Amino acid sequence: MSTSEYLSSLFSLEGKVIILTGATGGIGEALAMGLGRAGATAVLTGTRQEKLDEVCAAICAEDGKADGRVLNMRNKEEIQPFVDGVIKDYGQIDVLVNCAGVNLRLGLLDFPEEEYDRIMDINFKNVYFLTQAVGREMIRRHTGNVINIASYNTTGMLGGCSVYGASKSAIYALTRSVAVEWAQYGIRSNAIAPGHILTPMTAVNWNTDRADYLRPRIAMERPGKPEELVGCLIWLASDASSYTTGQLFNVDGGYLAGGSPWHYDTEYDSKY
Ligand SMILES: NC(=O)c1ccc[n+]([C@@H]2O[C@H](COP(=O)([O-])OP(=O)(O)OC[C@H]3O[C@@H](n4cnc5c(N)ncnc54)[C@H](O)[C@@H]3O)[C@@H](O)[C@H]2O)c1
Repeated sequence: MSTSEYLSSLFSLEGKVIILTGATGGIGEALAMGLGRAGATAVLTGTRQEKLDEVCAAICAEDGKADGRVLNMRNKEEIQPFVDGVIKDYGQIDVLVNCAGVNLRLGLLDFPEEEYDRIMDINFKNVYFLTQAVGREMIRRHTGNVINIASYNTTGMLGGCSVYGASKSAIYALTRSVAVEWAQYGIRSNAIAPGHILTPMTAVNWNTDRADYLRPRIAMERPGKPEELVGCLIWLASDASSYTTGQLFNVDGGYLAGGSPWHYDTEYDSKY
């Protein structure tokens, strides 16, 4: 077996129908391209058909398979018809990747209820109900895989992220629930917790003095690129991770590990 045949037998997503929500965002678009390149049939969702069509066209231009469908994660009533449509057209859903998410940084005492509801609806409540709807199909086939995009705020916390952090901790609890309740039906679930990834959602952190706070707290002293999450996603979506479930993977450039240490005199540059 050649190296490429061996790697392909481990990591290929060929034959898998994969739903990815939030596919038009900074991280979502990079994940969508990765799924397409790894051979998946990617069913991409977002709120704007035009932008979805652009991402699908980019995947199809590389001979990948992609199909974009509007699914507003604020609207629970859109979920079942969406899942029914995917089943009607493809007959199966192998992997669900919950990536859509929003944030608003406000003090704990300043959060209006409508903003609380908006963030919780998109980041957690309808992720729960989409997982339920897709889960019924996966249980029917006794196979499936749910991957949730969590956050540094799942276990750590930044100021002003009380609602966002709660939603991202909840999504990790959901990950563990799916892992323990549905393993008997051949279904796995894991979460990826990106650290500070440069996207439209976080651009404000990197072109203001917030960058002076963040940079030394990241061992690699830089934000991540959305593409740097793709390897972890492909591993989790593929059969290479077949014994891995209920876990949270931090992809954060060494943020949680302790960041960049204060200066100490190693003289490595002159010694080696
Ligand atoms: N960028 C980071 O540093 C970072 C860090 C940790 C976690 N995350 C998470 O990664 C995911 C993607 O974030 P991003 O940085 O690419 O942000 P982004 O703002 O670029 O993308 C967010 C995505 O969510 C979608 N979305 C927003 N409202 C929606 C709705 N009502 N219905 C359906 N989709 C909706 C948007 O269309 C977009 O595709 C989010 O879940 C976010 O919480 C990002």
